[in-house]
Amino acid sequence: MQKNIHDEITSRRTFAIISHPDAGKTTITEKLLYFGGAIRDAGTVKGKKSGKFATSDWMEIEKQRGISVTSSVLQFDYDGKRVNILDTPGHEDFSEDTYRTLMAVDAAVMMVDSAKGIEPQTIKLFKVCKMRGIPIFTFINKMDRQGKEPLELMEELEEVLEIQSYAMNWPIGMGKEFLGIYDRFNKRVELARPEGNERFLPIDGEGELAVEHSMTETSYYKQALEDVMLLNEAGNDFDEERIAHGELTPVFFGSALTNFGVQTFLETFLQFAPPPQPRKTRDGEDIDPESELFSGFIFKIQANMNPAHRDRIAFVRIVSGEFERGMSVNVPRLSKTFKLTQTTQFLADDRETVDEAVAGDIIGLYDTGNYQIGDTVVGGKGSFEFDALPQFTPELFVRVAAKNVMKSKQFHKGILQLVQEGAIQYYKTLHTEEVILGAVGQLQFEVFEHRMKAEYHVDVQMEIMGSKVARWIENEEDVKESMAGQRALLVKDRHDRKVFLFENEFAMRWFHDKFPDIRLYNLL
Ligand code: G4P
Repeated sequence: MQKNIHDEITSRRTFAIISHPDAGKTTITEKLLYFGGAIRDAGTVKGKKSGKFATSDWMEIEKQRGISVTSSVLQFDYDGKRVNILDTPGHEDFSEDTYRTLMAVDAAVMMVDSAKGIEPQTIKLFKVCKMRGIPIFTFINKMDRQGKEPLELMEELEEVLEIQSYAMNWPIGMGKEFLGIYDRFNKRVELARPEGNERFLPIDGEGELAVEHSMTETSYYKQALEDVMLLNEAGNDFDEERIAHGELTPVFFGSALTNFGVQTFLETFLQFAPPPQPRKTRDGEDIDPESELFSGFIFKIQANMNPAHRDRIAFVRIVSGEFERGMSVNVPRLSKTFKLTQTTQFLADDRETVDEAVAGDIIGLYDTGNYQIGDTVVGGKGSFEFDALPQFTPELFVRVAAKNVMKSKQFHKGILQLVQEGAIQYYKTLHTEEVILGAVGQLQFEVFEHRMKAEYHVDVQMEIMGSKVARWIENEEDVKESMAGQRALLVKDRHDRKVFLFENEFAMRWFHDKFPDIRLYNLL
């Protein structure tokens, strides 16, 4: 490879955009790709309503629903950086894939709709990022519309998410009266409606516009100035170290749709977003991205992206070293070596063969059923394994069975495979061994049903159990079956651990009061 591996690795910026549906994730992604020159025409990524999916050969269900079920990876170059955006399903029926994608990134961008503030799905995804301690950058979107007051939004951010914030810029007016942003970081005002070529106006040492402009007479400018003074005096300080640890989120205001503030955001983001980070092995050792040995882990398995080939693709986040097509890797779980000849990288919807990639990049390996979510792949004879990926607490449950009992063998084979892929979580009742499936999003059940039919030719019968509060038990030996009941179902997970499925939070608290010695805990 004709390049300096150090420069290649440190140029990588790998992140995900998290948001509640409709906050503008797709819109900003398109704009970012546009700046990166990856697409010629913003609006081609995955037009939910434009029907672009009709040309995609991804899963049938995506086409039927017109949504993106799976996370894809988008890559472009900007300012000497190689940017990898791991897209996360944007529909409200998001799934565990979304969570797991966050295990493979070094930073997150959180999109917030300025009229709606912090919404439920944002909170869930934020928590996973917070748990990992990765930097989180906030983009408050839709300033071209009337939304909540900016100070109110900052307060909400800090209170609901319990993270401190630093406003990198501040809106001057909003909606029809949106004049631009006061850029505290770059010490300039960016105009929403530039006259001529003048998009930026400088700010002087006093913090006021250094040039004459009609905006200075407006109440919006005066208000923004007042707010900024308040932030200067009473707000948090800009602190790179705290941003790097996810303790302080830099906040940007803008409008993805009108492409306002997006480029400034991208440039500042790339300045502070970290390059590929080390990752811990099960023995507690940190694997440095620049270590010579190639290593990575599988965070997602996507089945049948091309129905004609019935292939599976295992997505690998490269943790260290350099990938070259044809290299041999060891999968320590299997103590088995594979030669990686069929690999793919993702650019918008086009899959293309990848020959080389480095730490920070994502590659897709064609899989004939060997890999599992969480597997480590390591070059040569390397034998360490990375920390296991967390299992997430499911919130929705269904009882399933094959409609035709004669198909029971196929049914169990299908379930086993889909569970291994991480598509769904498996539980069973204690004695009757009825199958219960758990998921974090409704869509996982639909995908399950569809795939059982399409790939295993089994019609399944699903009985909705609804949402439950699942809790594992620290002192399993003290649990008696008589503690279970209608409102606290006792089941086993796929590792044979006992789990209570409570009707709701109230039922869980009641249980806790009644059996205070039983120590319950939830997964992430
Ligand atoms: P998502 O991926 O987070 O779900 O959101 P998406 O980008 O699809 O945006 C959701 C809706 O919000 C879209 O409108 C989009 O045009 C709009 N939107 C995104 N950014 C902005 C912004 O900065 N300002 C305003 N005013 N609207 C914005 P839609 O009508 O639901 O879809 P479409 O018909 O435009 O595709």
